[in-house]
Amino acid sequence: MKERFLVTSALPYANGPLHIGHAIGAYIPADVYVRYLRLKGKEVIYICGTDEHGTPISVQAEKEGVTPKELVDKYHKIIKDTFDKLGISFDNFSRTTSKLHYELSREFFLKIMEKGYIYKKRVSRPYCKRCKRFLPDRYVRGICPECGAKDQRGDQCEVCGKQLEPHELKEAYCAICKEKPVMKETEHWFFKLSEFSEKLEQWILKNEHWPPNAKNFSLGWIKKGLEDRAITRDLDWGVPVPLEEAKGKVLYVWFDAPIGYISATKEWAIKIKKPEEWKKYWKDKGCKIVHFIGKDNIPFHAIIWPAMLMAHGGYNLPWQISSNEYLNLEGRKMSTSRGWVIWLHDILAKFPADYLRYYLIAINPSKHDADFSLAEFKEKVNNELISNFGNFVYRVLSFIKSRFDGKIPEPGDEGEVKAIEEKVSKIVGEVENHLENFRFSQALYAGMSLASLGNEYFQQNEPWKNEEKAKDVLFICANLTRTLAIVMLPFIPFSATRLLEMLNIKSENLSWDSAKKFSMAPGHEISEAKMLFRKISDEAIKSFSERYLKAKEDVAKKEITIEDFNKLDLRVGKIIEVKDHENADNLYVLKIDLGALGNKQVVAGLKRKYSKAELLGKKVVVIANLKAAKIRGVKSECMLLAATDAKGNPVLLIPEEEVPSGSKIK
Ligand code: 2FM
Ligand code: ZN
Repeated sequence: MKERFLVTSALPYANGPLHIGHAIGAYIPADVYVRYLRLKGKEVIYICGTDEHGTPISVQAEKEGVTPKELVDKYHKIIKDTFDKLGISFDNFSRTTSKLHYELSREFFLKIMEKGYIYKKRVSRPYCKRCKRFLPDRYVRGICPECGAKDQRGDQCEVCGKQLEPHELKEAYCAICKEKPVMKETEHWFFKLSEFSEKLEQWILKNEHWPPNAKNFSLGWIKKGLEDRAITRDLDWGVPVPLEEAKGKVLYVWFDAPIGYISATKEWAIKIKKPEEWKKYWKDKGCKIVHFIGKDNIPFHAIIWPAMLMAHGGYNLPWQISSNEYLNLEGRKMSTSRGWVIWLHDILAKFPADYLRYYLIAINPSKHDADFSLAEFKEKVNNELISNFGNFVYRVLSFIKSRFDGKIPEPGDEGEVKAIEEKVSKIVGEVENHLENFRFSQALYAGMSLASLGNEYFQQNEPWKNEEKAKDVLFICANLTRTLAIVMLPFIPFSATRLLEMLNIKSENLSWDSAKKFSMAPGHEISEAKMLFRKISDEAIKSFSERYLKAKEDVAKKEITIEDFNKLDLRVGKIIEVKDHENADNLYVLKIDLGALGNKQVVAGLKRKYSKAELLGKKVVVIANLKAAKIRGVKSECMLLAATDAKGNPVLLIPEEEVPSGSKIK
């Protein structure tokens, strides 16, 4: 029987476009893996879709002023389009708002409940009186109880990865209106995760092939003790809890999302008109299920999802969980909220997808965080992909076109052919070994070493000098380009396919193992010899960076957090004295009454706009906690807020109504 694989990539939330961090986290490596498995002749399907429920969706919909449905419709399309452009070859890209998914999620819940692993409990949860609703997951923010990181969301700390319940955050506030929530009673349904501790531990220990990140995190969590988890939410967007008494509640998004892997497989089976075919992957023993995910998804895929599958019964458990470390951007942590990201649609509009795939795989952050730099992107594409691979291919094909009329020559030296074929076969085996073990960057460089080998061989043997030698060299090199086309197909599918076209080789039914042999026979006619790539210019990098990076960098720098803002002690103050500054013509020295804070002195450049009489008695806006400084030798203890008029003169901000001196401004 053929080895069978079901490969999935984490279902991205349909709440925004995708950036380069997403691409390298769960999609490009998975696509490389799947394309490789297909070439190896394995039975494999690649499944994904958009994750369309939960507070990530409803919070964003509120921000954009649209309904959740409108939001997910919009982003499902955008995300799908981006994946197509990036060459991600899903067999099915589904959505968790499909009818089939709702049905399966309900069935899952009811079955697990029937088996006694779900129970109801009365609990207190944060509630916003101003917004008149409970604050699940991303509706509430505060300090992480585990690591103390500020401004974390109620479902998971982005800094330490800890899974959170909304009520566990310290100094919580409503993410929408910033109000401090109160605790209010409600009922929720809990999944008995605690009961699976032992079974999970045994299973994880048995999975010796798991990478250390998934293994260590999950075993560590089990050691600390698994707690039962609420799997319902007081929200109106999501899969309704399939119980009469749970009206108005929905399933927690992390309960329904992974079920999406199964529903999307079922949908695939229906689409290919073999509705039972999905069972080969989820039910038949021996199918290897491989989840490619972002690092922050490890707890769900290594613990919660397998426990759900164990509780339900009858499905295969994950075989492998592959996740990367984080990708930084130009030395700084990426942040969508601060706009410090490169969106895939932006970069794919300017550069070929294969350039991005090549670079991201090259720096693939499998063990350590990696850094995306536009300068390095240019350098690696130009100096490796193009100078090495592109150059070799062009040299060989154009030589065959011009000297051998486009036909592969007959070699004379069998021994030499065999010797190089053996070397090539060995390298292909190395690429294979790396891919089987999820070492994508090493696999890429092993593949690229074939191009280096070809370039060196071509150069050393100087085929342009000797017609007879040229026949050996070009037979070998032409076959090496074929090997390269096959081996590089998983990494840079667009260019490798184009190369196969130039070689006049059909890409259907190509096999990985055939790359180990020099099977392109003498006399085979190639179609054309064109450059595969064009180098990236400094200009292209500069203009991309100016358009998409610099502007964002400015915004990122200017943005402040709510904590930053809260540091300002803004007050209403009354001007009770105005004197000239002795050492400056345009400055006054003012005394401000700040009520309970007492009086403070401030030096202000108001002379060109206001007379002393105009200022005296005015109520103004003051930063009361500014560090004192001397201005032209006179102490200044606070600052007045002013706008600037058309002539560049200051215009004071004044409260619209009478308020007491010292009133706090929030
Ligand atoms: O973190 C995320 O983006 C989630 N939407 C991933 C879900 S993966 C799966 F379980 F559906
Ligand atoms: Zn609120």
